[in-house]
Amino acid sequence: MKNKQTNILVIGSGLAGAIAALTAAEENKKVILITKCKKLLSGNTPWAQGGIAYTAPKDSASLFKKDIINAGTKHSNEAAVHQLVTQGPKLIEDLLINKLSIPFQTDENKQFIFTSEAAHSVNRIIHCQDQTGLIIHEHIIKRIKNNNNIDIYENYTAIDLLTYSHHSQNSMDIYKKPTCFGAIILNNRSQGVFAVYADKIILATGGLGQLYLHTTNPPESKGDGIAMAWRAGARCFNLQYIQFHPTSLFHESGRFLISEAVRGEGGKLYNVYGKEFMKEVHKSGSLAPRDIVARGIHQALINTNHPCVYLDLSHKKKEWIKNRFPTIYKHCLDKGIDITVKPIPVVPAAHYSCGGIGVNLLGRTSLKRLYAIGEVACTGIHGANRLASTSLLECLVWGYIAGKNAATYKEEHDFPTISQWRQETKIIDPAL
Ligand code: SIN
Repeated sequence: MKNKQTNILVIGSGLAGAIAALTAAEENKKVILITKCKKLLSGNTPWAQGGIAYTAPKDSASLFKKDIINAGTKHSNEAAVHQLVTQGPKLIEDLLINKLSIPFQTDENKQFIFTSEAAHSVNRIIHCQDQTGLIIHEHIIKRIKNNNNIDIYENYTAIDLLTYSHHSQNSMDIYKKPTCFGAIILNNRSQGVFAVYADKIILATGGLGQLYLHTTNPPESKGDGIAMAWRAGARCFNLQYIQFHPTSLFHESGRFLISEAVRGEGGKLYNVYGKEFMKEVHKSGSLAPRDIVARGIHQALINTNHPCVYLDLSHKKKEWIKNRFPTIYKHCLDKGIDITVKPIPVVPAAHYSCGGIGVNLLGRTSLKRLYAIGEVACTGIHGANRLASTSLLECLVWGYIAGKNAATYKEEHDFPTISQWRQETKIIDPAL
C-alpha cells in the first residue's frame, strides 16, 4: 500500500479521538482517523456506564475541583483540574447538549436527573440510563461519517510513531528537537504496512486494562499507545496509578462493570455473612472513594476467605431497576442473576490508567507535533485515583482543545525521507 499524507492523523476513535478528529475537520483540515478495531464504535467509551460529571444546582467549579483533588489523594495537577472544571460544563452544553443533542435523562419538567457516585459532594452526574458512553459515541460517529474532511480507516493498527531520531535517513536530524511526523500503519486484513505522514499526530488509543488478569476494559485496551510513545521517546508518568474499580461482576464468563451509579442510587455492599463491612472502613460506607472501597473489598475477601462480596439493589422497585440500569440488568440476567431480587457477586478489577503520556493543557506531549488525549494521556487531573464520571469529561475537554490546537497552531512540518518498510520472511540475523 502507498504511503499517505494528511494534516492531522488521529490514532484511536474513542470519545477523545472522535472529538479531536471532528474539531480539526471543522477547522477545514484533512484528517485521517484510524482504529485497530473493526468499527469506530469501539474502545472504552461505549462501555462507560456511569455518566458524565456536569454541574448541579448547588454546585460550583471550586467544589468540583476540591472533590477531584481529594479523590486523587492530593496528587492531581491543579492547573489541569481547573481547566476541566471551568471548561467542561460549557463544552457539555455546547457540544453534547446543543450540537449533538445527546438525550440525557430528564424528569417530567425536562430538568436533568442528576445521579450520585462516590466522592462527589453533590449529585452532578448526567447520564443516559447506564449507556452514557455508548449513546454519546453513536451520536458523534454519525457526525464523523458525514464529514468529508475525515478519512476513516477501520481495522488498521498503528505500530510505530515516526520520529526524526528513529526514522529519518538524514543522520543530521538527530540534532533537531525530538519530533514526530507520522506513524507506521498495518492493514489488519491485508497485512500490508505503510506510512502516514502528518503535520500533527494525535494519539488517543485508550487504556491498558488488558495487561491485568481481570479488567473492566474491552480487549483492545492493551496499552499499545503508551508503548509506541515510550519507544518514540515521549515522557510518560504516573503509570503506577492504576485504578481498580471496586465492583465488577464476579462470574466465570469474565468481569463486567457494575457501575458505581448502582451504589450512587442506594446499592449497598455486604460480605458473605450479610455484614455491611464498608461502614467500618469509611464514613461514606459503600460510597467511599473508589480506591478505598476497592481496598475495603480486598480486605473483606481476605477476612471471610470468600471469593467475592455482594452488591444489593433489590430493595428498589423492579421496574425502576430495569429502566435505570438496562445494560447491567440484562447482562446479569443472561448470567442467571436477577438483580431485582438477588445481590450481585462483585470483586475489584483493573479499570483505568490514571497515568500515561505526559501532556500539557493543550494535550501536547514532550515530542513536537505529537499530542495525546484521553486515557492514554496523563494530564495529571486524576492524581493517584480518578473521581468517577470524569473520564468522558476529560476526553471531551482535551479532545476539543487538542483538536483545535493541532489544526490551528502553526509550526514547521517537514517530512524526512524514511526507509521503506521491509516485510521480512526469513531470519535476518540468526543471533537474534
Ligand atoms: C462506573 O460507571 O462506575 C464507571 C464510571 C467511571 O469509571 O467513571
